[in-house]
Amino acid sequence: MILKATVLLIALFALQRVWQLSPGFGIHSKGYIHRPGPCRTVKPIQTGSEDITLTDNGIAFISSGLRLNLCKQLFDKKIQQFTGRIYKFNFNDPGHAAVEVALPRELEKDFNPHGVSHWKDASSDELWLFVVNHRKDNDNVEVMKYNHELNSLSLVRSVQSTMFTSVNDILAVGPNSFYASNDGYFHGCLRPLEVVVGLALGSVVFFDGVTASLVVQRQSDLNSMALSKDGTRLFLTKTFEQQINIFNISKENGNLMFDRAIDVGVSIDNIYADPVSDDLWLGAHSSMFLLSQHMTNLDVKAPSKVVRVHPLGLETDRFESYELHSPFGDDGRLISGSSSAVYYQEKMLVGSISDTLVFCDIIV
Ligand SMILES: *[C@@H]1O[C@H](CO)[C@@H](O)[C@H](O)[C@H]1NC(C)=O
Repeated sequence: MILKATVLLIALFALQRVWQLSPGFGIHSKGYIHRPGPCRTVKPIQTGSEDITLTDNGIAFISSGLRLNLCKQLFDKKIQQFTGRIYKFNFNDPGHAAVEVALPRELEKDFNPHGVSHWKDASSDELWLFVVNHRKDNDNVEVMKYNHELNSLSLVRSVQSTMFTSVNDILAVGPNSFYASNDGYFHGCLRPLEVVVGLALGSVVFFDGVTASLVVQRQSDLNSMALSKDGTRLFLTKTFEQQINIFNISKENGNLMFDRAIDVGVSIDNIYADPVSDDLWLGAHSSMFLLSQHMTNLDVKAPSKVVRVHPLGLETDRFESYELHSPFGDDGRLISGSSSAVYYQEKMLVGSISDTLVFCDIIV
């Protein structure tokens, strides 16, 4: 009896201690405003700019209007009314608004875009856009050709696979080949449970143009991907674990060999690898708690943060050592729930899951 009472007392004391210490673990993190220079929202985007892919000559393609297919009951109803779109933003002419890109006819009625990536042919300048599309029936990877004159996309192929359980991001490595990351397995309201219980059902799929194969298996918490400048490394983000995993890519079969992890110390979403400096740019969430409140009610603001990982290592192993920078922060009033960031010649774009798109000049 006395033993039981003592155990109960210790348990209560421990619980109280955990609660007292919880601010130190970031549960009550706030968004701090920090600008690298003048920043403004980009019209007309107000329904998210979840992912951004950037060409080497400064053209950004942005996915907008993502209707998360996780547990609709938990999210703001407005999100289900969003329309899926692709926007184009030109860094060489940043005074202009983002322009909507005409979708292929086949996709007009069934378009719910998530991760985006592109492949550009170095000799012909031909551009393919790859988009994760949560279609009504299943997740597809839409491979599309971009027409510069008409500012339109035509469908080249739709790739489906039983290995596409819950595709989040896509990374093109050729006009017809890509990696796709599954952030989990279950859809609907089983997904939050999958996260809480810690079932490791996420994976990375490699598609070589003909067949799909699993190259990363039984991992939890996978999010987005980027490719190193020389094409030999793949960067994969883990949101709750606040990590970037770096893999070596096998030239023969596309297999991935885990090399090292970078701890970022904040929940990270999409990743962009700058081909000029090798810097990694991350859209991040300073408070997953406030983000979840924002997703439940879009009128509640969630903080935004951008992280830049600057490598210090030699050419053979760039990320042997590195510095972490924090170029942008917001309390959620300019942009809530930052999910992506890309950089081009002293300028950057910051994207969000369900909110605005922000452009900043970088002068510091
Ligand atoms: C990855 O590649 C680097 C550079 O070639 C090499 O030093 C490292 O050992 C490789 N790691 C793995 C796990 O293959």
